[in-house]
Amino acid sequence: MPSPTETIAWQYLNAHRKQLGEVNLRDWFAADPDRAQRYCLMACGITLDYSKQPIDAVTLKLLLQLADAMALPDWIERMFNGEKINSSEDRAVLHTALRNRANRPVLVDGKDVMLDVNRVLSLMGQFSAALREGTWRGHTGQAITDIVNIGIGGSDLGPAMVCGALKAYAHARLKAYFVSNVDSTHLAETLALLNPATTLFIVCSKTFTTQETLTNAHSARRWLIDKLGSQQAVAKHFVAVSTNGKEVAAFGIDTANMFEFWDWVGGRYSLWSAIGLSVSLLVGMERFIELLAGAHAMDEHFRHARPAENMPVLLALVGVWQRNFMAAESLAILPYSQALARFPAYLQQLEMESNGKRVGRDGHNVDYATSPIIWGEPGTNGQHAFYQLLHQGTSIMPADFIAVVETEYPLADHQAKLLANCLAQSEALLQGKDRASVEDELRGAGLSPQAIQMLAPHKVFPGNRPTNTLLLERLDAKTLGALIALYEHKVFIQGIIWNINSFDQWGVELGKQLANRILPELMGAAPGAKHDASTQHLIRLAKVHGDGGR
Ligand code: F6P
Repeated sequence: MPSPTETIAWQYLNAHRKQLGEVNLRDWFAADPDRAQRYCLMACGITLDYSKQPIDAVTLKLLLQLADAMALPDWIERMFNGEKINSSEDRAVLHTALRNRANRPVLVDGKDVMLDVNRVLSLMGQFSAALREGTWRGHTGQAITDIVNIGIGGSDLGPAMVCGALKAYAHARLKAYFVSNVDSTHLAETLALLNPATTLFIVCSKTFTTQETLTNAHSARRWLIDKLGSQQAVAKHFVAVSTNGKEVAAFGIDTANMFEFWDWVGGRYSLWSAIGLSVSLLVGMERFIELLAGAHAMDEHFRHARPAENMPVLLALVGVWQRNFMAAESLAILPYSQALARFPAYLQQLEMESNGKRVGRDGHNVDYATSPIIWGEPGTNGQHAFYQLLHQGTSIMPADFIAVVETEYPLADHQAKLLANCLAQSEALLQGKDRASVEDELRGAGLSPQAIQMLAPHKVFPGNRPTNTLLLERLDAKTLGALIALYEHKVFIQGIIWNINSFDQWGVELGKQLANRILPELMGAAPGAKHDASTQHLIRLAKVHGDGGR
């Protein structure tokens, strides 16, 4: 596969960028009355408006040529067909099989994985029904009221985000909690809210070796046994979700209470597997299946729609244009939906763990930018915090606005105000406010010429700042599934264009190794390893001021 910069399309895109010079989006809108319709498409209950991006017909044509030159159609088929495209780990990438509601056979090493997928879905369905109906009871015979997901990264962010997003549909008796941080505060403050007799812990870990998760799970188990006074209680209060039955058994969870998944499911793509158990418990298996169906609908759209009408392709290409040709460093994710409060955090792992790479698939350093920094908070809160920088800061930061038309909680005029704010922000970022309008406004308010001269520059908005708007008809399980799959595919496409492996995460390893070396030293062992002087000094201070975990 060539480096993208060696393709003719990339070179033309560079030339095109130079030729465009300073784009003035306001002029583009004025010159083309159809622009809003032309750069907008709908699929799976989502409308994507990218007309406020500095993209014209030539840009789009060249970006589509770039995708083609990087063999995107071929890679799409390779992924869906279960080829081992995660080359550094020699694994297939088949989160799409987990939501393959068409039930088409998907072969890995000659075996149809759909048999296993359907078997585990059916176990999840049985368990979810039993717990929700109250026939699965705790050790003392009481029905479960609280579910605690213990996991981190992909074993936390996906289910936590979805449980938050679909909370309006939660079973009246059930609450879900997510404990991820090894900081004891996280577990202690959660346990303080819980009754052990009615709490179920789901220990979620693909590897079942993750330090944070195992530490939290051991402490939760000790708490449960202490409170209920019996080791036997574990059987009714702990289940596991993992690929590693051996470690699950070693921890002390009966593998009959383990929900399996497989090495062809990446951690940050595992929400669709039994890692989503907290979701099916909270909102019911039918809704979990709707989530899968929404993602499957987006998969079908992605696989079959023409590239120029393909939502994940267009979202990805807009991102490539911003990152590689407009030099954007970051992408803000701004959901105007409190239910999607954790969506930016979820996308941080999805995008940055997938595409935060500086080495290409061929092992050579790349000489172009890859993943932008992903950040964000829900609107309208962000408006009163960091939007100042979006509007008037020195860097231009593209943003994705995500709005939901219908609310689950119709309450006075809240929803209209929320949507008005969302639309106003992207309008303000586009239109800005020029010096003449500012001066007119200040004159109208009766300010003196000196005061106008002093104040006017501070009140100018340059505008012309790029945004996408994604409009969801409603935030039901199906549309949410489609939204998540949209971003998953966007990340995959960008990885293909950047010629990197989006499915490994070697960059998380070094810190883990070094933490394992520092840990015994903090706990009192003699300094064994050589550290730099700063780290050595900090270890000494942490030992003096803390108890080193003892
Ligand atoms: O450290 C990164 C990571 O490996 C993620 O990719 C993963 O989602 C997370 O840790 C948790 O891993 P596990 O599910 O194996 O506990």
